[in-house]
Amino acid sequence: MFNSIKIDKKYIDILQEKIKEDPIHTASGTLWIMDKDFCKQFDFINSDAFVDCSNIFKINNSYKPHTDVFMPEVQTNVLIPLAKENNEDLSMILFDQSIQDRGTWVWDSVKDISKYPPKTHLTRPCETEGVEGLTGKPVEENLKPYLPYGEEYFHGLSGKVMPWEIGSAYSFSARQIHCSGKQSGWKIGASFRLSCPWNEALYPI
Ligand SMILES: [Fe+2]
Repeated sequence: MFNSIKIDKKYIDILQEKIKEDPIHTASGTLWIMDKDFCKQFDFINSDAFVDCSNIFKINNSYKPHTDVFMPEVQTNVLIPLAKENNEDLSMILFDQSIQDRGTWVWDSVKDISKYPPKTHLTRPCETEGVEGLTGKPVEENLKPYLPYGEEYFHGLSGKVMPWEIGSAYSFSARQIHCSGKQSGWKIGASFRLSCPWNEALYPI
């Protein structure tokens, strides 16, 4: 479902240097854009599969359930946690359910989605056409302590909790629905989008 490896501090330093540049500001947070040449510095990433919608993000609130298929060829997200405001354990929730498209599910938490990206849904994943693997049951028990929003939002979903540890890199399918676990402050991480399967994204170093 996901892969993780420990990475050297020099890679964190490269990302720390990058965020000294001026970011761009969007509805979903602050971003620094990364190109293929930048990606090639990370020897453990399959950079041949790099797709041009990769960024470093800073967000103040937990990401709502979404997928990362920002370009049709994106198969995989490589996540490198970089910094967090508070000394707390962070995590991500990777659901078993997927959709073959980009998507963000805001349900009833947002009324005006005009500034939100395409394929923002005012429904829950369990009510959305195209979502595969729904259980038809309340959200799986093991996920409940980590959910950043009320459990009704996540009806029909099951999955795994992935740690969000600085010093590791993670790969997972961009088509699997995922969201942040609970967070009390901002966090910064890098997301490299790749066109290869998640289990071909990271090389041991
Ligand atoms: Fe994502």
